Amino acid sequence: MRISIFGTGYVGLVTGACLANLGHEILCVDIDSKKINSLIVGEIPFYEPGLKELVAKNKEKGRLKFSVDVEEGVSFGEVIFNCVGTPSEKNGSADLKYVLGVAESVGKFSKGHKLLINKSTVPPGTAKKCWNKILETNPVSEVEVVSNPEFLKEGSAVYDFTHPDKIVVGAKSGRAYGLLRKVYAGRVRTYIPFLETDWETAEMIKYANNSFLATKICFVNEIANICDGAGADVKLVTQAMGLDYRISPKFLNPGIGYGGSCFPKDVRALINSAEEKGYCAQLLKEVDQLNNRQKEIFVAPILDKLRAVGGNTVTLWGLSFKPRTDDIREATSLRLIKKLIGEGITVKVYDPIAMENVREEFGDSVSYCKGIDDSVEGSDVIVLVTEWDEFRNVNFLELGEKMRNKILFDGRNIYEPELVREEGFEYFGVGRK
Ligand SMILES: NC(=O)c1ccc[n+]([C@@H]2O[C@H](COP(=O)([O-])OP(=O)(O)OC[C@H]3O[C@@H](n4cnc5c(N)ncnc54)[C@H](O)[C@@H]3O)[C@@H](O)[C@H]2O)c1
Repeated sequence: MRISIFGTGYVGLVTGACLANLGHEILCVDIDSKKINSLIVGEIPFYEPGLKELVAKNKEKGRLKFSVDVEEGVSFGEVIFNCVGTPSEKNGSADLKYVLGVAESVGKFSKGHKLLINKSTVPPGTAKKCWNKILETNPVSEVEVVSNPEFLKEGSAVYDFTHPDKIVVGAKSGRAYGLLRKVYAGRVRTYIPFLETDWETAEMIKYANNSFLATKICFVNEIANICDGAGADVKLVTQAMGLDYRISPKFLNPGIGYGGSCFPKDVRALINSAEEKGYCAQLLKEVDQLNNRQKEIFVAPILDKLRAVGGNTVTLWGLSFKPRTDDIREATSLRLIKKLIGEGITVKVYDPIAMENVREEFGDSVSYCKGIDDSVEGSDVIVLVTEWDEFRNVNFLELGEKMRNKILFDGRNIYEPELVREEGFEYFGVGRK
């Protein structure tokens, strides 16, 4: 099948490469010519494990092409995926200008029957808005709009795309559901539930999914913060909770708040979407606020510790919003850096992949280190912000030799407090004794 993909970001490029790998002919379109030019010469504009190889393989087979030409993109595909960004507006609602921009182009340039498939995360009612936009542009358009939200995770996006736990399709005709089944035929060999819904339900499923996970994280952070005062160890508390099959052990790790390009903006967008319909989403408002608070939970104790030891240098380990990605959108590291710099602290940072993105944001106001050893040289405090594998088995005894003071704030609870203390460090975790 000939398929066009609008937007070559984390979702669009993975979708394009994976569908090409299933044998479809793919044209990926982006208005960012820098991105498209780099893709044409075989460079991937962001880090995602396994993606470079998949893009290269399918380019070579002639099944994956790139263009900045919107009209060509609309004409090429029998189905057109809308994978453009939906960032937050100032008030938290989803900014739909890119999504509606694609719908307008589809209305303008398409001939005959085509599907416009919204894969971007959008509030309930957006498919209808896209449909209206198409009709405004071309009142006799034969384009059908479909909602097909994506559930992949950065860091394992290629695997997730090919092994989804469900495929959700919101449409208005049997023909549209049938075409989507053809698009995904062969995605994996095992059975995947294919859920046929209406537009609004499909759109809502994605928000409900992300908001639930965000709420689960906030809940467990709340329990961890209570453990801190109660003298209980949250690690054992959550291990025990996870044994209850109704709860499951996933997303039960407390830490210094969630970030990324999805959870924060999607929770806020759902709050706003509910508000527009006259409903106050109180629980989700709390989730958003609690997560903001959690991102700063270490700031005061770090400053107290520095004052107590007469130190002034903090090392941050991990900058991306989670391991295995270079994405720093709404990353906790950014908030910490800003706060610490604001207090006049010298900040040293190290991340295996995301350093350049942080440099674009903070320039010379922080010191970028080549590796773990370099990052702790002369430092007073280490803060583990993102749990990349290479931070898991460090030799604290040796690292401590290089430091002025040996203090560790473990923002993801990856270390065993007694072992770190045995190696001479003062240890602070989230809800850990
Ligand atoms: N990143 C994730 O993990 C993830 C997972 C599931 C769903 N989503 C959702 O998918 C959508 C895309 O997310 P992303 O992280 O891939 O975004 P992104 O910012 O990485 O990429 C979006 C791309 O769209 C391009 N674009 C904007 N307007 C365009 C237009 N008119 N024509 C062609 N290209 C255009 C931009 O230049 C950019 O390259 C969002 O709604 C997001 O919430 C993201």
